[in-house]
Amino acid sequence: MSSSFSDPSRIDNQSVAGSFSDVFSARLSRRQLLKGVATLPLLGLPAGCATPGMRMDAGAIGFAPISLSTEDRVRVPAGYTATPLYRWGDSIGSLQGMPEFRGDAGNTADEQLLQAGMHHDGMQFFPLPHGSADSTRGLLAINHEYSDDGLLHTDGMNAWSAAKVRKAQAAHGMSVIEIELRSGGWTVVRPSVYARRVSAMTPMRIAGPAAGHAAMRTAADPAGIEVLGTINNCANGYTPWDTYLTCEENWNGYFANDGKIPAEQSRYGVNAKGAGYRWHEFDARFDAAAHPNETNRFGWIVEIDPYDPAYKPVKRTALGRIKHEGAALAVTKDDRVVFYMGDDQQFEYIYKWVSRDAWNRNDRAANRDLLDHGTLYVAKFNADGTGQWLELTHGKNGLTAGNGFASQADVLIKTRQAADIAGATKMDRPEWTAVNPIDSSVYCTLTNSSARGGKDQPGVDAANPRVNNTFGHIIRWKEDGGDFSAGAFRWDIFVMAGDPLLPDAGKHGNIKGDVFGSPDGLWFDPAGRLWIQTDVSTSALYRGEYAGIGNNQMLCADIASGRITRFLTGPKGCEITGITETPDGTTMFINIQHPGETASERSDPVQPLAVSSWPEGPSAGRPRSATVVIRKDDGGVIGT
Ligand code: FEO
Ligand code: CA
Ligand code: CA
Repeated sequence: MSSSFSDPSRIDNQSVAGSFSDVFSARLSRRQLLKGVATLPLLGLPAGCATPGMRMDAGAIGFAPISLSTEDRVRVPAGYTATPLYRWGDSIGSLQGMPEFRGDAGNTADEQLLQAGMHHDGMQFFPLPHGSADSTRGLLAINHEYSDDGLLHTDGMNAWSAAKVRKAQAAHGMSVIEIELRSGGWTVVRPSVYARRVSAMTPMRIAGPAAGHAAMRTAADPAGIEVLGTINNCANGYTPWDTYLTCEENWNGYFANDGKIPAEQSRYGVNAKGAGYRWHEFDARFDAAAHPNETNRFGWIVEIDPYDPAYKPVKRTALGRIKHEGAALAVTKDDRVVFYMGDDQQFEYIYKWVSRDAWNRNDRAANRDLLDHGTLYVAKFNADGTGQWLELTHGKNGLTAGNGFASQADVLIKTRQAADIAGATKMDRPEWTAVNPIDSSVYCTLTNSSARGGKDQPGVDAANPRVNNTFGHIIRWKEDGGDFSAGAFRWDIFVMAGDPLLPDAGKHGNIKGDVFGSPDGLWFDPAGRLWIQTDVSTSALYRGEYAGIGNNQMLCADIASGRITRFLTGPKGCEITGITETPDGTTMFINIQHPGETASERSDPVQPLAVSSWPEGPSAGRPRSATVVIRKDDGGVIGT
């Protein structure tokens, strides 16, 4: 999501811990930081268990870079083709009906529930049949992060109504679609028994330590164990047993509280008006004054089984409650699962979760509740290149009744406050995390920050070294002993984004290769190429320090050399997000989110094509977020 809509420039963290302005000068060089950790033993591929028969290539980048662009189309290097596959409003192929998209946005809420939601984000390919490594047929699980209500309804937000709220709720959540590679390319299989939409109205189970806690109970759910829907599903994860994880990010913007806002709500940014979705006007549960506990039922990671269309989604409270970006999987040597997770807001934190139990490779059902038991940690980055994982367990690190935490459920419901007390390092908007399959290092995008160093704000520190970090950076670490469950790590900064040709490299970046800013999506392919997707917010695109940098883009980094090469540019006003491949690496899927978005982030329904008419061109009714298929014309592995 771009920044002004979700308003991550807001700062909900007013705590005092975690700033290192006094030690900025102690930054060590990258060479010093990685000395001694470069020879860690290779660990298992994060996705290895899910993709038997996966190819391995040398990881070299074999395409020529493309230029910056302001063209209203998707551009990829020579020898590649990019094709839209699944657009907002396209039928999912449900057995219950396959309504056609109406270019005037005239589809009803019920129709929207059988069509692709808005604003595609994180996603994952799951081969069919389950357990195979098939690269010609599978399921795509796709997040739909939020709605542009100017585009979603024929007359936009005029005459706001319960029906419009219901349609907006139907456009949220995620899709599961079946797709197949036929002679003409990839196509959505319609109808499919797997086709499913999860929305902001879908009943889901609440599980883990916070389930049933008093703060999770509402008038509609006095037991605190079932909630309707998931919202603002940003990036994603997946498990070794092939379930999908969808992550709730800026959930606070759907609530409004016109009364005195309690600290538990203000720490997460709940305010008097919300972010303009106006759901509370017709759906009382989003009135955070009348139903304060409803807020506690969002901000979680939700597990969904894409292979079982009847599976009731589960909010896994053990993984903490933040503005979740994504969840990058690693597996320890003894088969416990680990997730690295960012909380995307200025001065928020990077988290890690380690399961209590090993996952069962032989019995998928035995993993059903594995995500309900584990340990949550938050990162502290020291100036000398070391770091600690601070355990967020009741009774440890100050998480006591005296400090407002009566139980582990309390710690998890108030994860941000727990991390404040533990003393985590305040970061420049942690977005996606990614695990390098070659050397087990972990990378995290820190997309940008406008407030660091400002009046009454945290100053720079070693891990966040810019006063005004317009372009963002990418940080990385290696766990001590090569053990993903370790309590300590060593870190350095992989790249400071921004134009390296401008003077003052510290301010304008040290990229070797092609310029970019605001890194967000991040993914390692199995050969160790690092794919970087950008989300320069619409309010910043094309102007100020971003003048001349053009549309949002995707690049590929060669880790050994540090060289970064531009692979794709998107249409006007979009962000690039979501990335997954078939097991053989010959098809990549990415998402174009919010093409044509304006700085207000709500389109004018009278001129919906004012900025972009992607993907259908000027004769189309509306610009549409879409999943895009990328293939190499010679059928080779993407990136080679
Ligand atoms: Fe939804 Fe932080 O991006
Ligand atoms: Ca972003
Ligand atoms: Ca994002």
